[in-house]
Amino acid sequence: MFILSGCLICCAFAQRITVTIQAGSARPSEGRGSAGRPISPDIFGIFFEDLNYAADGGLYAEMVQNRSFEYSSLDHPGWHAFTGWEMVKRGGAKGSYFIGDANPLHPNNPRYLETDCDAGGEGSAVGISNSGFDGMVLKKGEEYNFTVFARQQPGRSISLEIRLESKDGALRGRAEIPQLTSEWKKYSATILADKDDENGRLILLARGRGIVYLDMISLFPQKTFRNRPNGLRADLAQAIADLKPRFIRFPGGCLVHGDGLKNLYRWKDTIGPVEHRREQKNIWRYHQTLGLGYFEYFQFCEDIGAKPLPVVAAGVSCQNTDRYWGVGQQAIAMEEMPAYVQEVLDVVEWANGPAATEWGARRAEAGHPEPFNLQYLGVGNEDAQTPAFRERFKIIYNAVKAKYPDLTVIGTVGPNPEGPDYDNGWKFADELRLEMVDEHCYKPPHWFWANLDRFDAYDRSRSKVYLGEYAAHDVRRQTTLRSALAEAAYMTSLERNGDMVRMSSYAPLLGKLGHTQWNPDLIYFTNTTVNPTINYYVQQMFNLNAGDFYLPVAVDSLEKADNFALSPVRDSKSGDIIVKLVNGGPDSRSLRIELVGVENIATNAVKTILSGDPLTVNDAGNPQPLVPEISTIAVGPVFDYESPPHSLTVIRIKSQTP
Ligand code: AHR
Repeated sequence: MFILSGCLICCAFAQRITVTIQAGSARPSEGRGSAGRPISPDIFGIFFEDLNYAADGGLYAEMVQNRSFEYSSLDHPGWHAFTGWEMVKRGGAKGSYFIGDANPLHPNNPRYLETDCDAGGEGSAVGISNSGFDGMVLKKGEEYNFTVFARQQPGRSISLEIRLESKDGALRGRAEIPQLTSEWKKYSATILADKDDENGRLILLARGRGIVYLDMISLFPQKTFRNRPNGLRADLAQAIADLKPRFIRFPGGCLVHGDGLKNLYRWKDTIGPVEHRREQKNIWRYHQTLGLGYFEYFQFCEDIGAKPLPVVAAGVSCQNTDRYWGVGQQAIAMEEMPAYVQEVLDVVEWANGPAATEWGARRAEAGHPEPFNLQYLGVGNEDAQTPAFRERFKIIYNAVKAKYPDLTVIGTVGPNPEGPDYDNGWKFADELRLEMVDEHCYKPPHWFWANLDRFDAYDRSRSKVYLGEYAAHDVRRQTTLRSALAEAAYMTSLERNGDMVRMSSYAPLLGKLGHTQWNPDLIYFTNTTVNPTINYYVQQMFNLNAGDFYLPVAVDSLEKADNFALSPVRDSKSGDIIVKLVNGGPDSRSLRIELVGVENIATNAVKTILSGDPLTVNDAGNPQPLVPEISTIAVGPVFDYESPPHSLTVIRIKSQTP
């Protein structure tokens, strides 16, 4: 009874909100907040960082862990060159194992495995086993590309058997490499899996007597995304592609400026044959093979129609370097800066230069003679605004702009949307008249609701904004509908300010369950599953429905505290009017929507809605609690809509502008 009367009272006082959209408007109108404005074509993109096993063990489809014996305790306490591997001796064979470095494949790849085999008898073999990143997923009827660099002690006769096995030793597929030579040579084999197995392993068995040397032991599914060699895990890459991002920022985040100067992400170490790439520790306390390097990132961008946005370090390391020891930000010595600046300039030549240029030739060699059309370059990530940072940023910035005036160089204004680095970063951006700066914002959901007018107040004559990292952090850093709706509300403000906020990306993108250093993430995954969060669907709903013009709108009887946000936009290509409505409150909202200045409004529109209990949580036990529902809705020049509690609705209306 009480509940019923409560409901009646609520309905009796529910006020209808009238939303009047100047749907025929094509030009910016005067005033703030609800004025019409163009929206940047690159407004929504993604932020990729090799964090949470996003690259190795994640998007990068390599199945072998520690394929080149380069793991060490610098990566992670207790790790060593043989981490990920186990010794195997069969049929009474004897053998001993060493990590060699006297005659490496390449100076960048110093270590390899030496196995002294005594496996001459019938059925005897000495070898190694690798179970990948939490077990290898084998699919019945699918082929796997195996490669290895190997050599043997001169004058011996050693052959290899390559086996895919289940955890308990059942054979799933095999191949043979008949006779090794005494010089490093790359051997390849294709192995067909004859059964499904989620916990498979790769076994290399040597037969014969003498020493065998092994390096770069690799296994890839043939079915990578777009079947690219050295490619990406197809299902994860597809989930990213389905977001339809306008750009991809890579390779981070903190990974870019690294844990000390020796750990900066150096793009030249990430291109060329994988066995020549210089692996290094990952600032997130694991290891980077760099098999997913600049070429692979650029190619992925191209494959999914996203613009590349590489970020390079601004000549300084992360201010959290060896925080425990109080080391902090380190700066490249001034005498080494010319070489570093050249390295930054070279990336632009590598991406955009003709194949006849030095670095363009390297791109062409990798199979991409056409330029990648790089338009954006980030310099720095959340750096502390010290004199050392400023001095180096300026040198890099001036050199890049002098050589590539059309490239948009994005600066950085610290880790928070306020505070000394933010203030000083903006002052510095004003001084240099930067085109764009990268702001970061991790805050609780209520912060986003309280700051919907933040960008309305930004001075349009200053640098434009790339909101490069943001996420609403709910309690226990879980992803909830509440956090997703806070982000959705904020995204309506990004659209409204799409002339000023040119780019934005939720962060971070990927988190492998069991290996997360950072939560929340947009997509969680295991070796066999891909679980987009509720927040993912919010991003997708905006991406699929981003317009290019924010329409002037007047709204009556709505208070800021009502936790209601909206964004009417037009997509000029299709002529569609798209209305996004975010109701973060516990009551439904009655809306009367008036579309002024357009003709031939279709009678039906497509409605996409995401709604539910605001505390609905995405977690391992509840991997896909909510997905958007699509239906049709009757519309016209004036129509009513009841926006459900805790919901995001996108209404896409066909019309003609006179
Ligand atoms: O997105 C995770 C981390 O958050 C990024 O590496 C860093 O830039 C920020 O502090």
